[in-house]
Amino acid sequence: MRYAAITGWGMAVPDRVLTNADLEALVDTSDEWIVSRTGIRERRIAGPGDSNTSLAVAASRDALAKAGRVPADIDLIITATFTPDLFLASQACMIQAELGGSAAAFDINAACAGFVYALASATSFIRSGMYRTILVVGVDTQTRFIDYTDRATCVLFGDGAGAVLLEATGEPRGELASVLGADGSGVQALYVPGWTWDDGPAGDDPTAAVLGPRPRLDTHPAMLMQGNEVFRFAVKVMCDAARQVVLKAGLSLDDVDMLIPHQANRRIIDAAARTLALPRDRVWINIDRYGNTSAASIPMALTEAVAAGKVAEGDNLVFVAFGGGLSWAASLVRWGTAGVERCRADGGAAAAPPADG
Ligand code: ACO
Repeated sequence: MRYAAITGWGMAVPDRVLTNADLEALVDTSDEWIVSRTGIRERRIAGPGDSNTSLAVAASRDALAKAGRVPADIDLIITATFTPDLFLASQACMIQAELGGSAAAFDINAACAGFVYALASATSFIRSGMYRTILVVGVDTQTRFIDYTDRATCVLFGDGAGAVLLEATGEPRGELASVLGADGSGVQALYVPGWTWDDGPAGDDPTAAVLGPRPRLDTHPAMLMQGNEVFRFAVKVMCDAARQVVLKAGLSLDDVDMLIPHQANRRIIDAAARTLALPRDRVWINIDRYGNTSAASIPMALTEAVAAGKVAEGDNLVFVAFGGGLSWAASLVRWGTAGVERCRADGGAAAAPPADG
């Protein structure tokens, strides 16, 4: 059998820190309200030198260095983001351009669940035998889409990037099961406006006589959210998806060494952990320092959990996320790199693709 071990991990955040005290100066809020309702104390926001690309590239270099790999080793780059620097080209192509190498490259948008969707996609490419080495990046600079006069949203979000490198192995490592879900009837619960047709008469646009009215883009689109609705949805799908993915891997919740949840609200994480009966030392939480970093939050949390020595070879990790769409995703990951060196040395033959792959 062929599996997709995580051999490298990394993260990057902007230097600029936005504290709760800073937000008190912007909107009618307080440190006490933000900490008690969300668990967030500060978040990072992109400054003039930062971009989705710069953060993603820094996280990717970190992941490559930990894996002892170089960009030329990468077969495919998948980037999960809803805040690419350009509409066209893809964020993944921009990352490849900075890193070097000639990997295939494309983006996924599943909002805050995007990293787990990307991990499942990358794992499938490796398990099928199509690729051996894939860089998966979760990155969002969503503070670009925050209205800093809206206290209901502006306290929650921050910017950041996380990346993992996946490599083929013959040992059961990496993602052993995944659950992906979506409910498009919930689009209105959390979205950033796009094109509209309500611009009135076309004015003196010389193309209007032939093309008729054309849609326009809001110049400063801002995130809109029904917080309570998202909260209820989040607790339910986090618990359901975590249970499902553990069962799908043939395990039980007692076998889970670490839950690494999307960091959206401390109360959502606590409620899910309580329902799943997972003690605090088996749940990784770093929302206090970064807020909700969307697709970056799980690979950032993973990177910090590994750096803290909380993840060991053979451990079972559950990644679980929810986000705009509405979407959700969970992944059961067996940590470690067993079999990767052998696979590298023999050019991949040690991890033959499945017979039907
Ligand atoms: N400071 C002070 N008061 C506030 C603030 C604030 N920043 N925000 C809201 N309030 C007020 C409200 O106006 C309301 O006042 P009222 O009772 O006088 O009307 C009161 O606080 C309670 O508001 P609620 O919305 O009920 O507060 P709640 O406890 O639900 O917390 C929150 C709001 C934090 C947004 C919560 O609902 C939440 O975290 N929801 C999930 C959001 C989420 O995870 N979104 C990201 C999804 S991931 C992605 O794809 C990007």
